[in-house]
Parts: sequence; C-alpha cells; structure tokens
Amino acid sequence: MKRSIALCAVFVTAAMTAATGAARAQSGDVAKGERAFNLQCKACHTLERGGANKIGPNLYGLMGRRSGTMKGYGYSEVMRRFGIEWTDKTLAEYLRDPRTSMPGTKMVFAGIRRQDQLDDVIAYLKEATR
Ligand code: HEC
Repeated sequence: MKRSIALCAVFVTAAMTAATGAARAQSGDVAKGERAFNLQCKACHTLERGGANKIGPNLYGLMGRRSGTMKGYGYSEVMRRFGIEWTDKTLAEYLRDPRTSMPGTKMVFAGIRRQDQLDDVIAYLKEATR
C-alpha cells in the first residue's frame, strides 16, 4: 500500500513537470521575439495594419488567416495553393524550414531551428499583428 502511494506521487510529479514544460514551450518571450524579428524578418515584412508589402507580404492579421491571401501581394503559386490557416503550429512548421515545409516558396529564409526561438518569434507575431 505504502509503495503504491509513493509510486503515485512520482507519477503526479512527472505529469506536472511535463505540463509546465508544455506551457512554457507555448508561451514564448515577446521581447526576445521582437529582437529576433527585427534582425531576421523586418527587412522583408511589415506587421502593422495597412503596412506596406515589401519583399514579403504585410503580416497584419496573420493568426487565423489563410496563407497567401494578403491583398495586393504577388505570392508564389505554391503559397497561394497551399491553403493552410496560420496557427502556432503551421507557423512553427513553416518558419522552422520554409524551403522544406513548402517547396517552391519564394521566401528566401534559412529557417529557425531552435524551438525556443520559434516560440519567441511566434509570441511576438501574435502581439504585433493583431
Ligand atoms: C528575404 C525576405 C524574407 C525574410 C528575411 C523573411 N520573409 Fe517571410 N516571406 C517572404 C516572401 C517573399 C514571402 C511570400 C512567400 C511565397 O509567396 O511563397 C513570405 C511569406 C511569409 C509568410 C506567409 C504570409 C501570408 O500572407 O500567408 C509568413 C507568415 C512569413 N513570411 C513570416 C516570416 C517571418 C516570421 C520571418 C522571420 C523569422 C520571415 N518571414 C523572414 C520574404 C521573407
């Protein structure tokens, strides 16, 4: 009896650790994400409402929007046809390795391989594009 209670406590602790880990992974650091965006994305993208399309499209209202639909921007054929909705998950997949996740995309960007950096950039994008 004693033994099974101890085991149970270990199990609960492990589950709680896993849960906090997951929560942390999903909530990136907005300030770090802003810095990363300014360094890695800003040359090609604006974020504010009505912002210009540059080399890449304006990203205002990105979350929940269908890929390849910002008016007045000339997307690649593949981005227009991809037809996905931008969420934490699809953005992370695309930004981790654009050319592999969407072969033929005209976004010339090597990708962000580190999960924490991806989380940060996505957290910032959410704030800055709504
Ligand atoms: C060298 C320029 C360049 C850089 C740097 C760049 N992008 Fe892009 N981005 C593009 C282009 C061009 C497209 C359009 C791709 C297409 O049509 O295939 C695009 C498309 C996108 C889209 C899809 C938008 C939509 O309307 O569906 C997202 C999201 C995006 N970029 C985010 C980012 C983020 C975040 C970064 C930095 C981590 C970044 N990009 C860095 C040029 C760039």
